Amino acid sequence: MDRSENTRETVLKASRAYYAHLAYYEDLLAQRDRRAAKTTERELDFLEFAFHTHATRRVRDVLDVACGNGPHVIGLANRGYQCTGQDYTPERVQIAKARAKREGVSVKLSQGDATRLEYQNEFDAVLALKILFLLPNDDDAMKSLRQIHRALRSGGILVCNIYNPLYAGKGWFSGVITKGLYVEESHARGIRITTINQLQDFEPIQGAAWEKETSIIEAPDGINIFRDRERVRLFTYWDILHYLQVAGFKENKCYPDWKTKPPKKPKAKMLIFVSRKD
Ligand SMILES: C[S@@+](CC[C@H](N)C(=O)[O-])C[C@H]1O[C@@H](n2cnc3c(N)ncnc32)[C@H](O)[C@@H]1O
Repeated sequence: MDRSENTRETVLKASRAYYAHLAYYEDLLAQRDRRAAKTTERELDFLEFAFHTHATRRVRDVLDVACGNGPHVIGLANRGYQCTGQDYTPERVQIAKARAKREGVSVKLSQGDATRLEYQNEFDAVLALKILFLLPNDDDAMKSLRQIHRALRSGGILVCNIYNPLYAGKGWFSGVITKGLYVEESHARGIRITTINQLQDFEPIQGAAWEKETSIIEAPDGINIFRDRERVRLFTYWDILHYLQVAGFKENKCYPDWKTKPPKKPKAKMLIFVSRKD
């Protein structure tokens, strides 16, 4: 892997372009795809379960540090929480603002970097969903977790998640990493998003990869094709547990696949960590 490819600026620039290109279309799909809406509702149920089970204070104020188009932060606002969301990609923030308005909920939304959080003892829960493995390097991941710890009130919780690199079944992350290719098609009324994901470069020592994605979008505004790249870090359970502990979280529980009662042999495609600040 060419070293210049991995500077903070290069990774952030690629990520921003990718998430900007897809923002509008993913939102349209989310509005029209009933199955995706159900999945989000199940994730929101899990988050509320985590708030009730793991926080030792009542959860009212919630921060989402990479809220994307806002599925969780707006979903929780709909369920009565006081929500703040930020995202690095301004296009995603705009889409989230429009969605909050559409749904008639008040959410504080702004552009921001998950590694530049300046909050102190302000939240009862923080979400860092599908973001840690996208940050440009491990120092950033560590920095973000420390800042999240500072942002939480005592007894509050962090919920963060990663794709498990030890899962080799069907899915985007495993497909790209293990087979080098993953093709996916999602559609709803009037919109179809086809993505071709290819492994472009893999760094086997530090466990990081660049993936190349071609998105073919058929939507009301015509056919669009975007070519993007994204860097992903292959964090394992142990990496995240260690970073959480170094960041100050002593109580850490991991749930596979958003399941409040994991089966005996979980697939563990995704690992969801719930960590409490003392
Ligand atoms: C895979 S999406 C996850 C969105 C949402 N959390 C979810 O679970 O649906 C990753 C999001 O992280 C954002 N992002 C990437 N780098 C970031 C950074 N350094 N700080 C904050 N957000 C970032 C992207 O713009 C994108 O919206």
